[in-house]
Amino acid sequence: MKVVSVVGTRPNFVKEFFIHKELKKRGIKEILVHTGQHYDYEMSKIFFDNLDITKPDYHLSNSSSSGIQQIAHMMEYMEDVLKKEKADCTLVYGDVNSTLAAAVASAKLKIPVAHIEGGIRSINLYNPEEINRRVTDHLSVLIFACTKTDYRNLLEENFPKSRIILSGDIMKDVLLYTVDREKIKVERGKYSIVTIHREENVESRERLTGIISGLIKSKEKVIFPVHPRTRKRLKEFGLIDMILKSSALEITEPQSYLRFVELLAGANKVITDSGGVRREGYILGKPVIVLINITWFPEILKAGWKFVADADTDKIADAINNFEPDKKRPNIFGNGDAYKIIVENLISRFGEKK
Ligand code: UD1
Repeated sequence: MKVVSVVGTRPNFVKEFFIHKELKKRGIKEILVHTGQHYDYEMSKIFFDNLDITKPDYHLSNSSSSGIQQIAHMMEYMEDVLKKEKADCTLVYGDVNSTLAAAVASAKLKIPVAHIEGGIRSINLYNPEEINRRVTDHLSVLIFACTKTDYRNLLEENFPKSRIILSGDIMKDVLLYTVDREKIKVERGKYSIVTIHREENVESRERLTGIISGLIKSKEKVIFPVHPRTRKRLKEFGLIDMILKSSALEITEPQSYLRFVELLAGANKVITDSGGVRREGYILGKPVIVLINITWFPEILKAGWKFVADADTDKIADAINNFEPDKKRPNIFGNGDAYKIIVENLISRFGEKK
């Protein structure tokens, strides 16, 4: 059996780490393709070094371009790779542009697609990730859902049960493994951590200003590893000076996975617009303050661990100072064995022919 795995962005690299290990253990040939969607050292290579993922077999060089140009470029590249490799399936992760490009190319070539992290839905039809996820799910013959809600979303869209597997969240598997292996202390420390990179926040002067103002207004110490896209806009919107003048908000370069997990584990609260970081925060027992009103993982909100501050300056400051969940923290994201369930299903579905 031969699998082509396609990665392109930071969260993909993290998830690939465990799949790679498990495929290797089971003696399955994996061809790794890096679409180059993330290309800065801190956004890409450091993850390969840090997580000990083997060098990609194919690596497309990419640079800053519009999302549509990026997808078109990656799709053409994937056509060549997939025709050459003739794999039994193409494995894609999450909701990024790379995922969509690989899924479309693969389905057009009649190579079955398997989608890790399918079924996440929001009502924001034109959110870039929503588009990628919906299309990818519909092109996939096997969809792995992280949570029961994601699984139900797919059933409600009339996906047959034979195409959906409730695997749990592979991000949880890697997070718990890393905390354990590195003996990272998980505690409510004296600082909070913020990440901001969503297009809706970063491309809007008004929203980004509202968020930065809220972080500063809280007067709590907040560490802010800045995504390159966000850094560009902070400069353009004249917000860097405001940050540098604040003694509370501390900006840093994007962090390696290991360093980021250490920072998360020691944080008091997690403030984010990321779909992944909100899960990681919850799993590590941090109150999560969300900077965008998109209903991914409604279970966290239901459990009382998420506060939606959106880009509202006062709500953000107030939540940093006062938001404290008082309820139990149910297990939402599986048992830390999603990678085994995924590989087992790939083998039973695609491994029989050979
Ligand atoms: C992408 C994903 C998002 C995911 C995030 C993780 C899409 C639509 N979005 O967002 O779902 O949560 O990755 O980080 O796929 N850039 C750099 N250096 C880099 C990478 C990007 O300067 O290493 C610049 C790009 O040139 C572009 C901007 O940042 O101008 C956006 O990059 P892109 O990869 O399209 O989206 P992200 O914001 O990273």
